Amino acid sequence: MEQIAITREDRKPTATDLGLLKAKQQAMTVLSQRSRFAAAEFTTVEDFFLRSSYGEARGAEGACDFTFGNPHEMPLAGLVDALARNLQPQNPDWFAYKISEPEPRAFIAESLSRELALNFEPEDIALTQGAFAAIALAFRLVLDAGDEVIIPVPGWFCYAPMLRAADLVPVKVGLSEPDFDLDLEAIAAAITPNTRMVVVNSPHNPTGRVYSRAQLQALANLLDAASDRIGARIWLLSDEPYRRLRFDNVPFVSPAELYPWTLIDYSYGKVLLAPGQRLGYLAISPLLPIEQRQELQSATFSVQMSMGWTFPNAIMQYSVAALETVSIDLEALAAKRDRMLHSLEQWGYKMVHPEGTFYLWGEAPGGDAVRFAETLAVQSVFVMPGTLFERPRHFRISLTASAEMIERALPVFRDAAK
Ligand SMILES: Cc1ncc(COP(=O)(O)O)c(C=O)c1O
Repeated sequence: MEQIAITREDRKPTATDLGLLKAKQQAMTVLSQRSRFAAAEFTTVEDFFLRSSYGEARGAEGACDFTFGNPHEMPLAGLVDALARNLQPQNPDWFAYKISEPEPRAFIAESLSRELALNFEPEDIALTQGAFAAIALAFRLVLDAGDEVIIPVPGWFCYAPMLRAADLVPVKVGLSEPDFDLDLEAIAAAITPNTRMVVVNSPHNPTGRVYSRAQLQALANLLDAASDRIGARIWLLSDEPYRRLRFDNVPFVSPAELYPWTLIDYSYGKVLLAPGQRLGYLAISPLLPIEQRQELQSATFSVQMSMGWTFPNAIMQYSVAALETVSIDLEALAAKRDRMLHSLEQWGYKMVHPEGTFYLWGEAPGGDAVRFAETLAVQSVFVMPGTLFERPRHFRISLTASAEMIERALPVFRDAAK
């Protein structure tokens, strides 16, 4: 475990690499190596959150906040109603320890079976505190210390710290640009005898791409052949928290349909825009060979307990059925996307047209996203520089900003394009 920043990308050292080096140099520390490495992977995000102009002005009155996917409008009535109803105890066990409770488990198995046209059993569903805990559970269930895991770049900035904290080795593989599709050649080249998992995130944060069946089938074929070649099974983790946030009827295909060794993680935090109310699950592909499926099914309880009781709290579990049909307004989200895209493109911004998620991803005018973000920040408009995704020429906008924030911010974006 002495490796620092394995990467198959041909590029200069990033802040993460330098952070890892610093972490290694700080040998006189009470922190475990895995904690230091996890913290180092998170340096850029932490600096932005705490020590940038955004860190100083976040939450100030009048700020137009396009950074993290947090809500900026009042919570959905359907969510509040469900929580309020379930707050009232109906029996002495109401707030007893909860595991993956039978009712929500069966409900999710049925609803997911319909959504993905696969036959999930209740035992395939492990209820978790959001996608975060489901991802950590997937790592813990099938990986061992030192295993390599391929993650996308640009991609969600928590994969690498989470892997480091679990003594696993992130292998960062670039998506193909400018379209940000999966780069199958790069994935194939990154596979070594130590590779045990590939993370696929569709709809993709930050680009909004939704991968086609053809691409995912090609990936499944590649992983099958590579697993045979290295003599060990490579798992696929399908990170799907944005699965229901798609535009223009773009179809969604889960890799669980195409590659039996797939684990799906999901979160209700995105569709409800309530990431502080932790609820999600890990689902085992029903296509997994039966002995392996049963082995995983029977391990989830003890593994989740041993990870620190990562089950959702009682009220969230009671609310699962009621929350199934509650969602942010997808039409309003599409309207925000169109309003921003059309305006930005008219002023010369080069943007990716997202097929899903609530993000916009594009190239910063002038090519330096940090400088661009600072220019906007002077006018209290905050975007996320691509440095957080190891893509310093790009920036991300979260459309969870209110429509009013968007209108106030547009002239600032216009001026920054000049
Ligand atoms: C791609 C991706 N995966 C997983 C998560 C974690 O979701 P949650 O906080 O709802 O558990 C996020 C949250 O931003 C995400 O963007």
